[in-house]
Amino acid sequence: MRVLVTGGNGQLGRCLQDRLKNTSHEWQAPDQSSLDITNKSAISYYFDKFQPDVVVNAAAYTAVDKAESEKDIAYLVNTVAAGYLGSQCKKAAIPLIHISTDYVFDGKMTIPYKVGDETNPQSVYGTTKLAGEKAVQTALAEHIIIRTSWVFSEYGNNFVKTMLRLANVHPVLKVVGDQYGCPTYAGDLADAILQMIIQIQSGHKSWGTYHYCSDQATSWHGFAQVIFDEANQQGGIENIPQIRLINTDEYPTIAKRPLYSVLDCRLIAHEWNIKMPYWRKSLTQVLSILEYGNANNK
Ligand SMILES: NC(=O)c1ccc[n+]([C@@H]2O[C@H](COP(=O)([O-])OP(=O)(O)OC[C@H]3O[C@@H](n4cnc5c(N)ncnc54)[C@H](OP(=O)(O)O)[C@@H]3O)[C@@H](O)[C@H]2O)c1
Repeated sequence: MRVLVTGGNGQLGRCLQDRLKNTSHEWQAPDQSSLDITNKSAISYYFDKFQPDVVVNAAAYTAVDKAESEKDIAYLVNTVAAGYLGSQCKKAAIPLIHISTDYVFDGKMTIPYKVGDETNPQSVYGTTKLAGEKAVQTALAEHIIIRTSWVFSEYGNNFVKTMLRLANVHPVLKVVGDQYGCPTYAGDLADAILQMIIQIQSGHKSWGTYHYCSDQATSWHGFAQVIFDEANQQGGIENIPQIRLINTDEYPTIAKRPLYSVLDCRLIAHEWNIKMPYWRKSLTQVLSILEYGNANNK
């Protein structure tokens, strides 16, 4: 298969590249400077040149708080450009795998969200991502939309790296304990996407929207505790901070986050035979890759 990954420099984009290197697929994963997905003619040119058999859209405007004051650019990248990719895939008669988010939900439920549960995004980011899902659905039937949550990896910016960086300068960290979700390793999501691509290659066609996140829900506070437990066990961290639990109202953010965004992943398990690994195991791997004192530099 000829696989085109957009947003090649993001967490998911880089994890996909690491895994694609070990496959027989031909692939390209241009970063934003090589393929800006908001540029319709650039997409068309790239398709003509590379002739992909499948596209994974890992590009997104992901700055959740900044999006509140940059609505236009968030909408352009997360909604309009998702539609451009969908239309171009439709024209080329190839499927599009598009990534979305748990932030399409308002977080008022107390049991894991199923794919068909009512969406009600609370932020510009969530609103533009939900509109992006609709743009993809409208553009072509041959799509897979994967909603995921709390993505971390050895690359880019994420909660794990932020915690490790802050531990170097603060003996006490206050972390929100009343928001619940599932941390997801971008590498595990990349593995799941590649498994789906293999099945698409052999004719599997369960198009539609799915949830994928790592197994076992936690709070940001619980996640932080495990990060430092694991880092401590690996012996690579000099300063283990004290983690103090606070509530969301003690840590006001510009964008509103759902209090509960645990995703029910049974549909993707059933339709695509995908397994959800426990995030703690993946976290151990990521920590062993990261140099703790330098956690922001990858
Ligand atoms: N991160 C999370 O916690 C999280 C949670 C739920 C869902 N998701 C979804 O998961 C997917 C992957 O997220 P991620 O964590 O890998 O995000 P990420 O690390 O922020 O990567 C996104 C990539 O998209 C690129 N990009 C932005 N605008 C672009 C444009 N106009 N054209 C081409 N590329 C563009 C960025 O380029 P630059 O590197 O140049 O900025 C960046 O490399 C996204 O759809 C996101 O919405 C993420």
